[in-house]
Amino acid sequence: MSGRLRGKVALVTGAARGIGKGIATRFALEGAAVGVVDLQAEACQAVVNEIEAAGGKAVALAADITDEGQVESLVRRAEGVFGTVTVLVNNAAVMPAGAVHETAAADFDRCVAVNLRGTFLMCRAVIPGMLEVGQGSIIHMSSVTGILGLPGLAAYSATKAGLQGLARAMSTDYARRGIRVNCVAPGTIDSPMLHDFLAAQQNPEPLRQQFDAMHPIGRVGQIDEVASVFVFLASDEASFVTGATYTVDGGLSVKGEQPQD
Ligand SMILES: NC(=O)c1ccc[n+]([C@@H]2O[C@H](COP(=O)([O-])OP(=O)(O)OC[C@H]3O[C@@H](n4cnc5c(N)ncnc54)[C@H](O)[C@@H]3O)[C@@H](O)[C@H]2O)c1
Repeated sequence: MSGRLRGKVALVTGAARGIGKGIATRFALEGAAVGVVDLQAEACQAVVNEIEAAGGKAVALAADITDEGQVESLVRRAEGVFGTVTVLVNNAAVMPAGAVHETAAADFDRCVAVNLRGTFLMCRAVIPGMLEVGQGSIIHMSSVTGILGLPGLAAYSATKAGLQGLARAMSTDYARRGIRVNCVAPGTIDSPMLHDFLAAQQNPEPLRQQFDAMHPIGRVGQIDEVASVFVFLASDEASFVTGATYTVDGGLSVKGEQPQD
């Protein structure tokens, strides 16, 4: 532990598993007190137990981030336990598959409600405290799908592009008031979401190889490689960074035609 986040109080949404869990765990290792926010109460507590067993500080905050009342009360609870929240990671998301004509309106609405409106509600609830102490770092989890057109992810891609617009707007609103707002846009990450997706396919191995080959670096990313960028953006090392979207995608979003092996 190098203490890069010592003294910070961080909330990470969608932290019961996957990339959010990886970010929460790294934040705690770097000295932050962490609120583990997720729909899944038991899994939240399990992450907290792991963090505490490693000597870190964390609290489980089971909530649905689409519910304004639950969001307000989870933030008040975190403030009661650890003090003013100074870092917010908006990581929770859902990913309905399909082109527009294949996407049910209810699935589109849920995607917007979790990915965009949930992020908005979390920001609204923590910003007054950040303004009071004159410091804060807010990081939205976007995706390369917010930059590139990838097939079959219409609703998800719209919300992930929306998060980048939200971060840019917020960064200008709060730049002179001590709050930085940035986005991270990963490519495909070796995560439970990817494993579940592959497990549901008839012939997963060639598909897994396609995911690897799609990234110029020649492989999908690891959770810790995404978490590292969040640690940087949450820390005071990133004091001049706001309004940015950091791609963590092995070069996917800038690739041209690839030479054949
Ligand atoms: N896995 C990838 O390859 C990849 C690539 C690019 C971006 N991302 C983004 O990274 C983030 C995490 O991805 P992941 O693969 O770990 O996903 P995941 O599905 O494994 O985890 C998402 C978590 O969010 C929680 N959640 C969903 N709706 C919620 C709600 N309403 N309130 C509270 N919690 C809720 C879920 O319970 C789950 O624990 C997402 O924003 C995703 O879009 C993932």
